[in-house]
Amino acid sequence: MQLRADSVSVVIDGKPVLSSVSVEAKPGRMLVLAGKSGSGKTTLLNVLGLLGRVDTGSVVVAGQDATKWKDSQRRRFWRDHVAFVFQDYGLIEEASVEYNVTVGRRGLFGLRQSDRERVEQVLNHVLLSGRGKEQTARLSGGEKQRVGLARAMFRGADIVLADEPTASLDRKNRELVINFLIEEARRGATVVVATHDEGLMAAGDDLIRLGEQRPSESSLHSETVS
Ligand SMILES: Nc1ncnc2c1ncn2[C@@H]1O[C@H](COP(=O)(O)OP(=O)(O)O)[C@@H](O)[C@H]1O
Ligand SMILES: [Mg+2]
Repeated sequence: MQLRADSVSVVIDGKPVLSSVSVEAKPGRMLVLAGKSGSGKTTLLNVLGLLGRVDTGSVVVAGQDATKWKDSQRRRFWRDHVAFVFQDYGLIEEASVEYNVTVGRRGLFGLRQSDRERVEQVLNHVLLSGRGKEQTARLSGGEKQRVGLARAMFRGADIVLADEPTASLDRKNRELVINFLIEEARRGATVVVATHDEGLMAAGDDLIRLGEQRPSESSLHSETVS
């Protein structure tokens, strides 16, 4: 699923955070949003995920101008197509790991047997094998982050949006997260990741740097990494 920002500007408290930014994320590719802290990476990621408003410009989802969408259309987009891997976003702390992985995908009577097996598969993949029944609140920060990955994997989402997914992780977990994102792109997902982690930048297919303003240029410099 194609995801595009067309000349998007965002002003927060009178301050221009994004100034006419255009960027395109494509299926089967990982787009990296790079830039210093405060350069607007999270803001742009929120805009692309239809979580944040724009002041000018538009966000185009699979050819449709999503800036005009009603709440119900946005909710359908999130439910059917997107997995968010955000640090403090979307995990229900009181619920079990398994519940968080499968949230929004459970039937009236809970999980089907095939889903149960799939949950165990994705938990195994993020090194949380056998931890499905644990309360999410009891997990460490890095483990919670991996629950987010497991959920994205379980959903097989068309679009995976990740905000600083390797921040404050040890080396092993960092590699796990980077490989996960590479694999998601490889299976055909549109992956967008905001980061200042050089290793993750290097793993991306496309890279955009935010906040590098030069007098005669736009605030954005785009390059393609092969
Ligand atoms: N909700 C908000 N209220 C006030 N300022 C904000 C808010 N969100 C972002 N900003 C400001 O917008 C700028 C970009 O923030 P952000 O997108 O979080 O950057 P990054 O993710 O690259 O660190 C920063 O200067 C930040 O202070
Ligand atoms: Mg950020």
